[in-house]
Amino acid sequence: MKLLVAGLAWCLACCTGWSQVWAQTSDLPASASPERGRALLMQRQDTGCILCHQIPGLPVGGALGPSLHGLAQRSTPAQARERIADARRLNPQTIMPAYLSTEGLHNVAQRYRGQTVLTPLALDDIVSYLFQPDTTIP
Ligand code: HEC
Repeated sequence: MKLLVAGLAWCLACCTGWSQVWAQTSDLPASASPERGRALLMQRQDTGCILCHQIPGLPVGGALGPSLHGLAQRSTPAQARERIADARRLNPQTIMPAYLSTEGLHNVAQRYRGQTVLTPLALDDIVSYLFQPDTTIP
């Protein structure tokens, strides 16, 4: 009986472990590219991420937002994606721009009206960079 319980517990631990790994990696399409993501994160003009965040493997960043070191320990790719897409959904008072939304924006320059800052693919690229195993990030 004891053995059966231990076996069951092991199996459960093992299965949840695996499903977590699976959930993490299956969040992103295979086409997502961490190299493109890195390039996007570096752009001060287009994304501006490093104006507010310190990001692993990138030159010094700003401190208006939290450091993104260790992000994988406190968030899943899907959660990070949701925040970058429209941080207002998680924090209506946020200062972080909404990168995949055109809702409720004011004073948008004529040529950018109706456009999102990032495309869905670019957003996946960024998330794939942020969730690379830390060992591959210098
Ligand atoms: C104007 C400053 C600003 C810019 C630009 C900005 N962010 Fe943020 N970001 C924040 C703040 C502040 C928070 C903390 C949560 C909040 O206040 O909404 C945050 C939170 C986050 C989080 C969650 C961090 C955690 O510890 O869980 C992620 C991921 C993130 N930002 C990614 C990005 C990416 C990627 C970009 C560029 C595409 C970006 N941010 C651009 C200010 C910014």
